[in-house]
Amino acid sequence: MLAIEEEEEKNIFTGLELIEDRGKQVEAHVGALTYEGLESPILLAQDSAGGCGGMKWEAADVMIDYFIWKHKEASEFLENKTVVELGAGTGLVGLAVAKLYRTKKVILTDQMPMMNLMQENIKLNKLEERMKAEILNWGEEIPEGSELLDVDIVLASDCVYLEVAFIPLLETLLALAKKDTVIYLAYKKRRKADKRFFQLARKKFELIEVQDDPKREEYNKKGLRFYIFKRK
Ligand SMILES: C[S@@+](CC[C@H](N)C(=O)[O-])C[C@H]1O[C@@H](n2cnc3c(N)ncnc32)[C@H](O)[C@@H]1O
Repeated sequence: MLAIEEEEEKNIFTGLELIEDRGKQVEAHVGALTYEGLESPILLAQDSAGGCGGMKWEAADVMIDYFIWKHKEASEFLENKTVVELGAGTGLVGLAVAKLYRTKKVILTDQMPMMNLMQENIKLNKLEERMKAEILNWGEEIPEGSELLDVDIVLASDCVYLEVAFIPLLETLLALAKKDTVIYLAYKKRRKADKRFFQLARKKFELIEVQDDPKREEYNKKGLRFYIFKRK
């Protein structure tokens, strides 16, 4: 387990505090999401029956737009990389990355209730050869030898939203991050408490706002932030 917890005073995480602007429940449906710059739409099954991850969240667009732009600049950017998405929900960001780049592998991860949706979305987009879905509960030890412990890129879209999950999420980020691992984390500022996550993160990671994102200002105005985390 991570030293972060010991360094902190007690009673910071006061219990499950769900966000209020989660949006309406989404009935199960399949749709086609079109992004300018992406050759074909992403087919996406959404269904909030299994939890909040069953629908697309705002921060996903920040990352997808960035990776589309980056692909135009340098199509080899994520070539041959092993990518893992944390708290993937529908898996939208990972799907976009796999469609854009000749990645080695893109692994979508989330908790058990999201497993079917992630698998369905991989199939819908015919990406089974280069993608897979796995269960990864933040804070739980990743078994030795797991391919998750050998990834180049970590994606986390809208994963900073639940105070009780701040430390487990950081523990997982730390477990995955080696010297050269790049973590892309986009999030929507919702509550003051979110600051706590970033204070804790700065103890272990260098946090850099993604400077070359052409949509940075536009998204910042909507309270969306996009960072790169690198292990200190
Ligand atoms: C707000 S949703 C974001 C979903 C998706 N990344 C997006 O941007 O559309 C947060 C996701 O984190 C997942 N999550 C929450 N707590 C988790 C935990 N302890 N371990 C793993 N995943 C978790 C949820 O199941 C959910 O899919």
